[in-house]
Amino acid sequence: MANCSMEELRTPVYLIDEAALIRNLEILQGVQQRTGCHILLAQKAFSMFRVYPLIAHYLSGATASGLYEARLAHEELGGENHVFCPAYTDAEMAELCKICDHISFNSLRQLEHHRPVWQAAGVSVGLRVNPEHSTQEGHAIYDPCAPCSRLGIPHAALGDILPEGVEGLHFHTLCEQDAAPLVETFEAFEKKFGQFLHGLRWLNLGGGHHITRKGYDLAALEALIRRIRETYGVEVYLEPGEAIALNSGTLITTVMDVVENGMPILILDASAACHMPDVLEMPYRPPLYGAGEPGEKAVTCRLGARTCLAGDVIGDYSFDEMPKIGDRLVFGDMAIYSMVKNNTFNGMPLPDIALRRRDGSCEMVRRFGYEDFKGRLS
Ligand SMILES: Cc1ncc(COP(=O)(O)O)c(C=O)c1O
Repeated sequence: MANCSMEELRTPVYLIDEAALIRNLEILQGVQQRTGCHILLAQKAFSMFRVYPLIAHYLSGATASGLYEARLAHEELGGENHVFCPAYTDAEMAELCKICDHISFNSLRQLEHHRPVWQAAGVSVGLRVNPEHSTQEGHAIYDPCAPCSRLGIPHAALGDILPEGVEGLHFHTLCEQDAAPLVETFEAFEKKFGQFLHGLRWLNLGGGHHITRKGYDLAALEALIRRIRETYGVEVYLEPGEAIALNSGTLITTVMDVVENGMPILILDASAACHMPDVLEMPYRPPLYGAGEPGEKAVTCRLGARTCLAGDVIGDYSFDEMPKIGDRLVFGDMAIYSMVKNNTFNGMPLPDIALRRRDGSCEMVRRFGYEDFKGRLS
């Protein structure tokens, strides 16, 4: 792949920062080394496989949400290959059993339906259970323990003994949380499912652990992992996505026009709907370098996209001086849940993907064009 100077980058572009990734990976590796747990990359958050060899150096492997992510990890990352999906087709199960070592099921029916295939393949299978203990407020969309959730088997639906062949349990309930909600959730899980753990091989604590953010309580996480391993003799897995590439990338965009309607509105070549959909789905306000809260600095502008969607607005930000057409704006924390969710609504070009290496040089990893838009449509 071609080297390029920072000035040569055309926008919009995701610029991933290898040094920041390494900082995160070193923290995660430290947790593995001190506790003996296994940490997997949840590819749903970050699948930029150009850096998979780097990730493979630090982590135990990857987890997938289905066949395509599982194939990607098999081809590009190596290491342990786990998968969880609420339902698998027969064709997918046949493929998954060739490339995965751990498969988690979301129902007893799915487990039994696919039994002949996974049993013959000798894959380690587990069940995702639902601890029915919410520790999140506000984002029901991200809460697998919300009422009537389809994710994870509730205690009442499991029965008194685990089906033959089940070697592990899996739960995922957190979203961008610290260790205390995990400890609390484990205690709720333990009351309901603890008796099953003796004799199992592994327990997967899912993702949502913001391990690499400043101030995360590493000691509490590590104490919990040690306690689980000592009490139950199981291998402990964590599968964070965000924590691996937290604050490890930016989205650079250019101001294309400025319109006025009650306030100055900047028209950017990046779109919330196409390039940072979590801004609208979570919703959240992405950090913008050099900008402040509305009213904090001299001029406040609304930042919007050049799509037709009226709500394709990234947010209101203030600046020391009025931004000009041609200026570049840099959004922070854009490595996670961005590239993996991109779309070409309105025929918007996909942002290029570049990598700033540790030594400061820049590698153009992928440029997208018209063919990437057209190729998915007929
Ligand atoms: C089953 C499972 N594992 C892991 C993750 C990764 O979560 P995060 O990126 O918040 O760490 C998710 C996120 O939705 C998930 O559903």
